[in-house]
Order: sequence, then C-alpha cells, then structure tokens
Amino acid sequence: MSETPEVSRSTRLVAIYPGSFDPLTNGHLDLISRGSRLVDQLIVSILTNTQKQPLFELQERMQTIREATARLSNVEVDSFDGLLVDYTSRRRANVILRGIRAISDYETELQMALMNRRMKPETETIFLMAAEEYSFISSRMIREIITLGGDVSPFVPEAVANRVRAKFSQKG
Ligand code: PNS
Repeated sequence: MSETPEVSRSTRLVAIYPGSFDPLTNGHLDLISRGSRLVDQLIVSILTNTQKQPLFELQERMQTIREATARLSNVEVDSFDGLLVDYTSRRRANVILRGIRAISDYETELQMALMNRRMKPETETIFLMAAEEYSFISSRMIREIITLGGDVSPFVPEAVANRVRAKFSQKG
C-alpha cells in the first residue's frame, strides 16, 4: 500500500471539478449539484491551456457556469492552466471530482486518476456516476448540434441555452 496522509473525518473537504465545460451540460450541472453536497467547498475549474479551439470563450464558460450554479452557495468557478495536481496544491484542495457516464469513460478516467495519484498521492479522485437521464449527453455532441443549427435547450442549463441563442442563430 502506498503511504498517504491520514484524513480524519473532521478534515475540510475542498474538491476541484476540472474540465473543459465547452459548454456546461445538464450532466455536468447534476454532478456539480450532487458533488457540492458531499464536500465543504467545490471549485468548478476550467482548463485554459487546451490544444482544442473552444466553441465558447473562457469568460463565456465561466459566466454561464456561475449563473447555472448561483443557488449553490459552496460552489466557486475558476480556471487553471498547467498540471491539475499543481492547481490542487495552489487551491489547497484535497479531492478531485470527476463523472463517469459509461464504460467508455472509465479507461481514460482511470488512467488520469492513477497518473494524478502517482504525482500527488495525497489528493484523492472521487467519481460520481452520471444520472442515467443525462448519461448520453456530451459537450462534443452539444457543440456539433449547435454548429449544425439544432436545438440544444433540452440538454443544457438555461444559462447556456440563452448564450447559444445570443451567439448562434439557433432554433428553440
Ligand atoms: O472535460 P475534459 O476535457 O474531459 O477534462 C479533462 C481535464 C481538464 C480534467 C484534463 O485534461 C486535465 O486535468 N488537464 C490538465 C493537465 C494535466 O494535469 N494533465 C495530466 C493529467 S493525467
């Protein structure tokens, strides 16, 4: 067994929920809402140094996540670049939160969690299973529907749907 520091039940849990959130979906929001009940503070943090050209600017993503999570008092929205484990240290977070939708997510998530644990054993990754009604939703598909002019409002929070309407000529 690898050596990890004791975490007593009184330890304050600060979790980072990292991702691209391009855009935030109902699946993400469900995970944020359920995750926020398990920890003292939940920081939803958007990766900025990605290779991918995002559909939504960082500021748009931060703003829509803030609007969608406004009722959750222990949720904060932030951004980061560089290694996730270094960011967890900067934010004094002891938990990484990730969601798993299907078996197909498992392999990448396992690899990421093991790599992060090897680099920083004291930070635990906690997985929540996506709610079944959202388990088919992905940001990649949402982006595709948006660029092809379809209606994504059933799959994303209202703040995102409003942003989509303002930015793209979209049905719905
Ligand atoms: O929403 P995504 O795109 O699935 O999120 C992926 C994310 C941001 C969690 C992952 O790419 C990440 O943590 N990137 C930061 C760089 C890093 O720490 N890489 C090593 C992790 S194995």
